[in-house]
This record gives sequence, structure tokens and C-alpha cells, in this order.
Amino acid sequence: MSSKSRLRLLSVVAGVVYQWLLTCVAASPDPRCPETSCCQRDDGACWRHGLWTRAYCCALGGAADCYRWGEDSPGGDVAVHSAHSGVQCRHICQAHETCAYWTYIVNAPQVPENLRGRCFLKSESAVANRGVAHPFVVSGERLCQHFGEGLSFAAARERIGLQTPTWRTSVGVTEGRAAMLPGSGTEHWFREAAKALEEVGFVVILDAMPDAQTAGLLQTAKQVAEKMLALDPERLGNRGPRRYSFGGASRTLHLMHIPGWEHLLDNEPVNRLLSAYYSDGFLACGGGGDFVLGGTSTYQSLHLDVGGPVHGLEKAPAIGVNFALEDISCADAPIRAVPYSHLNATEPPDLVSEPQEMKDALLCPLPRGSALVRDLRVWHGGTPSGSTQTRLLPNAEFVSLLWGSLTCGSGEILDPCQPVLPQAVHERLSPFARAISERLVDGAGVLEQHAGTDDWLIPDFRGYHRHKQEAY
Ligand SMILES: *[C@@H]1O[C@H](CO)[C@@H](O)[C@H](O)[C@H]1NC(C)=O
Repeated sequence: MSSKSRLRLLSVVAGVVYQWLLTCVAASPDPRCPETSCCQRDDGACWRHGLWTRAYCCALGGAADCYRWGEDSPGGDVAVHSAHSGVQCRHICQAHETCAYWTYIVNAPQVPENLRGRCFLKSESAVANRGVAHPFVVSGERLCQHFGEGLSFAAARERIGLQTPTWRTSVGVTEGRAAMLPGSGTEHWFREAAKALEEVGFVVILDAMPDAQTAGLLQTAKQVAEKMLALDPERLGNRGPRRYSFGGASRTLHLMHIPGWEHLLDNEPVNRLLSAYYSDGFLACGGGGDFVLGGTSTYQSLHLDVGGPVHGLEKAPAIGVNFALEDISCADAPIRAVPYSHLNATEPPDLVSEPQEMKDALLCPLPRGSALVRDLRVWHGGTPSGSTQTRLLPNAEFVSLLWGSLTCGSGEILDPCQPVLPQAVHERLSPFARAISERLVDGAGVLEQHAGTDDWLIPDFRGYHRHKQEAY
């Protein structure tokens, strides 16, 4: 055997031994991971912290492809951050507009001080340059297939909306009636829509808001989004990377003090539908909504927006109504919602086990002026974006009289008795909207005192936590 081929054999053997060591040691060299024996267990005693997850610390099975211990790719850096763990570095990559690959160097005494806890975000070219490095480095791609967590920009552009059951109606006669409820445009549209809401769990009114109102609100919502983004240069979001809840950034949990938002409580078609649905009445409890930046790659896992003993109730304890202020295509990070799931008392599946048909249950396209009326028990979640545009969906929230009597004064979300609406704004509403929002009036004038300021905005609104199933 020549010395050259002997050397080659030796390096192959060393590589195999090294890989074997990586898999059988199993635990990562991150000193903040729990002890190795935890890798054989799945319980909360071992896995308490979302930044040191079992997938990251143990990298067993399919997760070994998501957290590639001992792998690096030199060069191609687009940004460098500090991070507490590889999990966080992965999330920072997903929040970045162009990051395709990340590399994290653990914060361990064996590592030179200037490299400890460094998170390198890299461009597409890094994916081709991957190679074996030292044990204190871990790397991965922006999305890991094993987690079922997202879509490429191209794949996110190719989707179509949920076809069945029929979930669209309109007040006036609109084109494309074939895909709409048969009563669309007739004087009974709202009765039929109330029935769809009851049976399916959601319904969309295509022409709920006039153009003059969507235009004004669009401008306002964009301004609010800009203020939030100025506080989040890394785009970490408060509902997962590049994904934002308006209400989650507000001290009042709502945006009803922002001029224009009150129109969402006073929408004639929506209130007509809700009056038909709740025969004994309902109450407004505020509203906020959400926005998603273009280039968002990840799904938000399926969840309910209301908790507690909600499945014994015949009617929705609470309803959310999202308004499309401009045309939302199926590439614009539409919401997905599972038909009939409002009656299902089991836990929604996590992203890994979610059936494809649920990932494809997209409520799109939504033309400008559409109102998406949703029982808050419906399993729903955000989806990736195949667009460069920000997708905005402000909302208003309503509760049944029964649920409102339970939450009134709780100070939590879906409380119809919190001072979130300025007095002067309330006075300008229609008599019907005034009646359902009476308990929301800020009688003490605190909101008016702070009007025109950004005091409502929580400076550190960013959420480092994600839904449990998305933390990995
Ligand atoms: C509830 O959802 C689960 C998971 O998708 C499904 O297996 C089950 O059949 C559903 N139950 C009902 C009553 O629809």
C-alpha cells in the first residue's frame, strides 16, 4: 500500500470514527444542555428551557440533520450576532431576510473567548461549502425538513386557497359566484353566513369594508408596523420570526385607541352577521391583529385563540374578525384554518405531525375589504410568505354574553370590561357599536392624556418564546 493511499484510508477511518463518536456521545458540548441521560427522556424535568431543547442537545434521529454538530462552512457571512444557544442562532437566521445557513460556536471554556456564543448567519453559498470542523461548532440550514416547519420562497408562491367547504359570501353581487355561498348578494346572505360560521367555524365576507376606509386604515396600520419594526432590527417578531401581533405589543393588549381601529368594531355587514349568529346579543372586547413580513419562511403551529372550558359551549365563546386592507394573495402569508375544528376538543397537532391538508387550508385570496369572521376555537396558524410585501390583518374581537360575563374585569385578553377605547372615539360610533362597546370606554381619560404619543407601545415587546412545538 502506498503511503498516499494509506493516508487516505486513515482519514476515512478517522472520519467514520469521528461521526460515530458524535452519534454515540449524543449530548452536545454546550455546557448549558442537561446531562446526557436526559437524551433518553422526554419529560419536563430535563427539558425546561426552549433554548436548550432535546433536538439541539441530543440531535438524535432526524434532528441530527437540523443541528449538525461538528459541521461548519467557512465564509459567506451576512451577519454575526451573539446567541445563548444554537436554537436561538437558528431562530435569528430564520428572522433574517437572506440567511440560508447558520453556524453557532458554543459558549464553553474550551473555545477562544472571542468566539464563545457567536452566531454566524451565512448566505446560500455556504450550503455548498459545508465541512467537518471541531466538536464545539453546530450548524444548520434556515429550514430543516425534519421539523416540517416551513417552505422555500418558491414553494410558498405555488399554493392555492382552501377549496371546500365553501367559506366565502358577499353582501352585494360579486364576480366568481360559483365559489361562493349560494345566498351571496341576496337579502338573506347574513343568515346563511351565520350558519356557515356555526358549522364550519369561519366565513369570509368579501365586500365588508368600503375602499375609503381600507385606504385610511392601511396607512395607519403601516405606520404602527413601522414603529414596531424600529424596535426590532433583527426581525425576531413576537409570534415567531418576522411575525407580529399588534395587540401583543400594546400595554392595553389592544389597538382600539389608534385612530381608525374603532371602525373594525363598527362594521355594518360584520355586526349584522354576528347579530344573526348570537341571537341573544354579544359584546365587543377590543382588537389588534397581526402582520407578517415578506420573506417569512416558517409556519406558526396550529393553535386556538381562546382557552378554558370552551368545547362544551354551543356558540363561539369569542369571535375574531380580520380585515384585508389590500388584496392578499395565496403567496402573502395567508392564515390557514381547519374547517370544523372549533368543535374538536383534542389538542391541535404540532408541525411535525400536522397533516398536509391542514397546512394547505389557506384562507386566500382575500380581496381588499374582506372580513374573515372566525370562531376563536378554530385551529389556525400563520403560514410562510412567498412575497416581498408585508401582509397586514388588523382585527376586532367579540365575545358571547356568557363568555363576557366570565371574563369581565379579568384584565386578560377577551375581557369586554377594560378601558381600551377613548371616550371621544366611542361617541362617534354608530348606536349599535356604542352599545356593544360601552364597557370598553376609558372613562378616566388615561388614553386621551397619552393620545399622539407612543406610550402604549411596549419597548421590549419581542417574544423570544415561540409556541412550544416550534421551539425544537
Ligand atoms: C379531532 O382532530 C383529530 C386530529 O386531527 C382527529 O383525528 C379527530 O378525528 C377529530 N375529532 C373530531 C370529532 O372531529
